[in-house]
Amino acid sequence: MNQFSRASERLVHVPLQGRAYDILIGPGLIERAGGEITSRLKGLMDSLQTDGIEAVSLTLPAGEKTKSLEHLSTVCDMVLSARIERNDAVIALGGGVIGDLAGFAAGIVRRGVRFVQIPTSLLAQVDSSVGGKTGINTRHGKNLLGVFHQPDLVLADTAALDTLSEREFRAGYAEVAKYGLIDQPDFFEWLEKNWKAVFSGEPERIEAIARSCQSKSDVVVEDERETGRRALLNLGHTFGHALEAAVEYDGKRLVHGEGVAIGMVLAYQFSARMNLASPDDASRVEAHLKAVGLPTRISDIPGDLPPTQKLLDAIAQDKKVKSGKLTFILTHGIGQSFVADDVPSSEVLSFLDEKRSR
Ligand SMILES: NC(=O)c1ccc[n+]([C@@H]2O[C@H](COP(=O)([O-])OP(=O)(O)OC[C@H]3O[C@@H](n4cnc5c(N)ncnc54)[C@H](O)[C@@H]3O)[C@@H](O)[C@H]2O)c1
Ligand SMILES: [Zn+2]
Repeated sequence: MNQFSRASERLVHVPLQGRAYDILIGPGLIERAGGEITSRLKGLMDSLQTDGIEAVSLTLPAGEKTKSLEHLSTVCDMVLSARIERNDAVIALGGGVIGDLAGFAAGIVRRGVRFVQIPTSLLAQVDSSVGGKTGINTRHGKNLLGVFHQPDLVLADTAALDTLSEREFRAGYAEVAKYGLIDQPDFFEWLEKNWKAVFSGEPERIEAIARSCQSKSDVVVEDERETGRRALLNLGHTFGHALEAAVEYDGKRLVHGEGVAIGMVLAYQFSARMNLASPDDASRVEAHLKAVGLPTRISDIPGDLPPTQKLLDAIAQDKKVKSGKLTFILTHGIGQSFVADDVPSSEVLSFLDEKRSR
């Protein structure tokens, strides 16, 4: 707890050398955002204090389709029209879509301007706002254009989550559970016991968010550019991204966190099939995600899906491919995930064929 934090707040520090920043987590931060930013981004806000806050805002449509070149161009144009200087900041107020898009713009306009994340979805608070990955989608796949650009400050206002739909809250929860499944079996166990309290409000909700941010920070500080351990954060994402692509990023059928939920179950089941983990662990993961109301099977996705070979093509197109071999995050059990970069695509094909029919 530091001087900026109130009793119900948590602070997670991300100690990246030269680019360290804080994540503040708690209710009501947005109402105090001006003050927090002023006291934390000194030079930036001096002028705002004397002149009154000078800001221009741009509202963008909700949904994954907003992470496009077209919208990137709109944002960059707007930021340049506002004659932004290197010491000014782009503030992303919204979910992961807005954070990724605005962060990318902040990273490339004038070779990088300052950036503040005010994530308003659970997914953005526990995942996308932390770690500095920004980007947009192209017709070749998700997040294929982007830069690393760390924020200067993250304000996670937990009160903002009160207006989030149940469905989106659950989707974000998939990423929370992910941290337990990667390397913290005790956290997963805590979630199995406390998920109802996390869904209904404080203080468990703040605890879960803080713990998630801390996990992500630990990984990012160790491996900012994803040359190694950071890849573990992709648990469930290789399958998940393929499913998102299969529904053409149609958020009515499947949102990102739901794809991750199904993807994590598939990763555990596939690990069991490869005799790396016990099928009981896969069942336990599925049971928990199902209990919170997340989809856990390919057949939970409404409507028709393309042929399995197409899903595999999407997996191969995904960025986690090294020299033609499929890279997956697999597991030896709850909280024992690892990077497997030699997974035979034929095994994946027959596995998916089997799984999509149930
Ligand atoms: N950069 C990273 O490291 C990283 C990590 C994980 C995910 N992501 C990206 O994040 C995106 C998903 O983020 P998301 O789940 O936040 O999606 P999102 O930004 O589309 O937000 C989900 C929905 O919730 C709405 N919303 C957001 N906050 C709200 C609030 N407080 N009240 C009511 N409605 C609200 C949005 O308008 C949207 O309709 C994906 O594009 C994914 O690729 C990036
Ligand atoms: Zn994700």
